[in-house]
Amino acid sequence: MRFRHSVFKDEAKLDINYIPEHLPHREKEHRLLTEFFNFILNFPEKMTQRVIVTGEIGTGKTALCQRFGANMTIEANKHGVNFRYIHVNCREYRGKLSLILQHAVNVLMPNFPKRGFSAEEILGTLLQNLDEENTHLILALDEFDVLIENEGADAVYNLTRLQEMRSGKPQRLSFIFIMRDLSVTKRLDDSARSTLQRNIIRLEKYGKDQLVDILNERVQLAFEPATIPEDVVSFAADIAQNESGNARFAIELLWRAGKYADAEDQRVVTPDCLRKAVSSIIPTLQKNEIESLNFHEKLFLLAAAEVFKDKEKAYATLMEIEKAYAVACEEFEEQPNSHTMLWKYVQMFSALGILKTEISGTAQRGRSTLIYLPAVSAEELTQTLRASLQRGRK
Ligand SMILES: Nc1ncnc2c1ncn2[C@@H]1O[C@H](COP(=O)(O)OP(=O)(O)O)[C@@H](O)[C@H]1O
Ligand SMILES: [Mg+2]
Repeated sequence: MRFRHSVFKDEAKLDINYIPEHLPHREKEHRLLTEFFNFILNFPEKMTQRVIVTGEIGTGKTALCQRFGANMTIEANKHGVNFRYIHVNCREYRGKLSLILQHAVNVLMPNFPKRGFSAEEILGTLLQNLDEENTHLILALDEFDVLIENEGADAVYNLTRLQEMRSGKPQRLSFIFIMRDLSVTKRLDDSARSTLQRNIIRLEKYGKDQLVDILNERVQLAFEPATIPEDVVSFAADIAQNESGNARFAIELLWRAGKYADAEDQRVVTPDCLRKAVSSIIPTLQKNEIESLNFHEKLFLLAAAEVFKDKEKAYATLMEIEKAYAVACEEFEEQPNSHTMLWKYVQMFSALGILKTEISGTAQRGRSTLIYLPAVSAEELTQTLRASLQRGRK
């Protein structure tokens, strides 16, 4: 076997689980988080804090919180404060509070039995352990939307109540709630909502120049010098920005483009490698993103997929999809959302690159918007969505 060159120096730096030391264009938000939790360094047992971090997919919510948690741990050590940061993805535990808390307890107490306890009992054990170890914990609940969808307001109430009953005793447990869609908090009662909405950090989508900065830092870590021309980075940022302002998409694009370069034994990642990456990435991206949609967004996309599945033609009108959506709502016993809302869905899916729109007709004969599914089989999409909707059903 002959020696093969690779454009990569350290591919792992492009992995979704890698948390960069420095997050360009999130410095302000990082400082804000640090401000909110600064008390931990000085009087950790005197108070607790709850913060919401929100933003669209790929705006850096997970990375920001994990970076903050790691930095805070280092600072707390320097101050001689016992502090732990635990990050749990609620989707991984199917939005079940007991499983989520079980995971948190097992991080602190690896021998704690894996089953048989209610959420409340586990929370009690957790607080007891924090007391014994004289520790302050920030529990970051990622994809918190899934927990609320699954358990409703009760879960939030239970999470925060035990703590409140401890007035007089040392304070131990703070929260970061990470969520894409703040509208799910509307389902909470007033007191649960007001406890949550005091401190909101909103991450805006990245613009092209911001994506260029993010990619450039990552390129230095992951690629050999001079393997990615500047205009390829700019091109990747353009595509990602047009699709959704999503940093995850941008990074995955470069990784795949690098894979195409390696496969073809090229020393440099060319624009054509990037184009190949674009056409291969969209379907895989969808699988991750579908799970992040809310119930009605999934219903709407299911309706669209059903229309395209049954149709020979590539294009459909919103009216056709709207009819199918009404049928889907009936099937899943949901009240349909308004026409205006459905338009918003079309725009969102088009921003994510899942659906595309095109204007047809001429000014004289009346224009209409046609919708199409650019890059995935309607059959597969229907199956994925149906499975996901069944799981999300109560
Ligand atoms: N400001 C940033 N600087 C560097 N990398 C970033 C930045 N924002 C996001 N990323 C990277 O983009 C990807 C998606 O970010 P992530 O935190 O998972 O987004 P979210 O949780 O909002 O969907 C991750 O690989 C993350 O490391
Ligand atoms: Mg995330």
